Amino acid sequence: MTTKIVMVCLGNICRSPLAEGILQAKVGNNVFVDSAGTSNYHVGELPDKRSIAVAKKYGIDISQQRCRAFTSKDFETFDYIYVMDKSNYANIIQLAPSEKSKQKVKLILNELHPNQDLEVPDPYFGGEDGFEQVFQMLDQACEIIANQLTK
Ligand code: 4NP
Repeated sequence: MTTKIVMVCLGNICRSPLAEGILQAKVGNNVFVDSAGTSNYHVGELPDKRSIAVAKKYGIDISQQRCRAFTSKDFETFDYIYVMDKSNYANIIQLAPSEKSKQKVKLILNELHPNQDLEVPDPYFGGEDGFEQVFQMLDQACEIIANQLTK
């Protein structure tokens, strides 16, 4: 069965669309990768222009993505739920219907720095530099996730 992974942040316009695009590029079509936001602020919108630009710089097209909100049905659909920060973690855990669902939720940077509970900073209110940094962090974390999936 195809492994299904969803990347989650607050708005689903900056960080999680990048995480989706980066991981999808690394794993190809054998893995289903999606993303969602804990909020509904931007539902239906394209990713932030700055996320589209930094992804494009590294050869990844995320411009076909559209923002959606995470729903409790996603616990059934997905095998792994990677969140960007502790606030996302708390919000998603609150929606979890069972202990098994809670165990699917992981801070994405714990793949890179196990047990450190580091966060992918929200770049929304900052400059372009923040998007480059977020891209690099997610690229490293997704490299590890992709290697685990293809083992
Ligand atoms: P994201 O960034 O969670 O990485 O998509 C944000 C995007 C929008 C807002 C906050 C964070 N907002 O408040 O609209």
